[in-house]
Amino acid sequence: MQRQIIQTTSIWHDGFNLPTYSPLTTDLRIAVAVVGAGIAGLSTAYQLAKRGIQVAVFDDGPIGGGDTGNTTAHLTGMLDKGYAETEYLRGTDGARLTAESHLAAIDMIERIVRDEAIACDFARMDGYLFLAPGGELRTLTEERDAAQRAGLNDVALLSEGVTLGNVRLSPALRFPHQAHFHPLKYLAGLCHGIERMGGQIFCGTHITRVNAEAIVTLETTDGPVIRADSVVLATHMPIDDTLGYSLRIFPALTYVIGLHLPTGSLPNFLAFDTADPYHYVRIQAAEDHDVLIVGGEDHKTGQADDMDARYQRLAQWARTQFPLAGEVLYRWSGQVANSFDGLALMGPDLVSPHVYVITGQTGIGMTHSTIGAMIIADQIVGIPNPWAELYAPGRATGHGLGEVVSEGLNVLSQYTDLLKGGDVASATEIPAGSGAVVGWGPMKVATYRDDQGRLHHCSALCTHLGCIVAWNDSAKTWDCPCHGSRFDSYGTVINGPAPSDLLPAEE
Ligand SMILES: Cc1cc2nc3c(=O)[nH]c(=O)nc-3n(C[C@H](O)[C@H](O)[C@H](O)COP(=O)(O)OP(=O)(O)OC[C@H]3O[C@@H](n4cnc5c(N)ncnc54)[C@H](O)[C@@H]3O)c2cc1C
Ligand code: FES
Repeated sequence: MQRQIIQTTSIWHDGFNLPTYSPLTTDLRIAVAVVGAGIAGLSTAYQLAKRGIQVAVFDDGPIGGGDTGNTTAHLTGMLDKGYAETEYLRGTDGARLTAESHLAAIDMIERIVRDEAIACDFARMDGYLFLAPGGELRTLTEERDAAQRAGLNDVALLSEGVTLGNVRLSPALRFPHQAHFHPLKYLAGLCHGIERMGGQIFCGTHITRVNAEAIVTLETTDGPVIRADSVVLATHMPIDDTLGYSLRIFPALTYVIGLHLPTGSLPNFLAFDTADPYHYVRIQAAEDHDVLIVGGEDHKTGQADDMDARYQRLAQWARTQFPLAGEVLYRWSGQVANSFDGLALMGPDLVSPHVYVITGQTGIGMTHSTIGAMIIADQIVGIPNPWAELYAPGRATGHGLGEVVSEGLNVLSQYTDLLKGGDVASATEIPAGSGAVVGWGPMKVATYRDDQGRLHHCSALCTHLGCIVAWNDSAKTWDCPCHGSRFDSYGTVINGPAPSDLLPAEE
């Protein structure tokens, strides 16, 4: 039976219950504290527990409540910036290590799935990089040559196009031996593995402050203090911006739809195209049908208000490429943390050797996070890791400087919003379940009208560096256009780098 209801949370939350955990209620002394229970935090905790380290994970929400629950879970070494650009940005050796590390991450996920017997639909398949309309074949030949120089000798150009089921698609590069899985079932398996090895997991515990001394202390909203020899901040967007991550990570919102597809009408595959922003596609089997998952339409966080149009363009694109695609069953969005050179920032924070970060994982955060987990677990137990330098958080921007400068100028231009009026002349114009920035004299107020018609006011100044937040009517969040902090409708921070909630608005 085809469902007519569009789900606005991701397909992964549909019919699957994750394990639940209680908040921390008393002070805790632990060898390693991991903040964040998405794929980055749980993979790191798993790798540490495997190495015999006493570890505890803390999250302010439920397991998988962050962007791991929003992912499309392509497990791939097909890079966001591609191999040709990565070779320019990080050199031939850098591109080779990048390829090696992503393939090793897919192998590691496969091994964990097998060792822990995790039923998470893990499957190997080909990945394709399709030429977008108007693109030149030269783009694909250059990318193939760079991928091969990086050691991916089996990447092949299919210049006559690709046939998938009954569908004929444009010329593409084929990357064999990629994979996909159900990300939340995988997280549940990691949780069981961590607990079996003696690790602890606490949810509903918000970390407010990290004091990086010889023994690192973490402060929590509810009072208990955590003391640890080392801390891993795996919060996707950094919550401790002392190393200026926000100058080198550029958050974007990305959109996904899931369309009905007759079972078996397309083989399993992963795909990206060469459009900018690119589309990404995969299949997920459901009980009596398949779901064609299509993503794209990215924009800088807080800098667009046409979400419905973006979902519609995705559906149109999907039906043009895959005429069998039917009803839209799911639609959701999430944030990706892009970095200046397309590679994640993972390893010790330069400010303290006891604080480690995993951030900037771009649109291939499943593999990046797994690589980060392997690097940091090795570093904590003192084993050299071959990829540590490549992903070091404090690395020089090098050829990525141009992007840092242009993103910096974009951020500066956002401050002109301080001089503008509100989005609406008065709160009476805000419909129920929606929000807008309202001018109270020189003050800007983030006003949300709840479903019962009650108004909730906060200062619209982001608590990171004071940009004006923008209402996101699709996700019902306040999004900061400068460095991607996000707040729920009532102003509670859900994504750093903002350290705290929006302040109350005072008349
Ligand atoms: C729509 C979409 C599609 C994507 N598709 C792919 C794909 O196909 N393949 C791929 O590899 N990657 C993909 N990505 C990227 C990938 O999903 C992310 O890079 C990855 O999930 C990030 O994992 P994480 O563990 O770092 O973050 P999260 O899953 O966001 O986890 C961070 C956790 O930290 C917690 N937290 C934050 N601050 C605090 C605090 N102060 N105290 C306590 N807890 C805190 C949060 O509650 C959250 O649970 C996609 C992303 C999106 C949005
Ligand atoms: S995230 Fe930096 S000012 Fe808002």
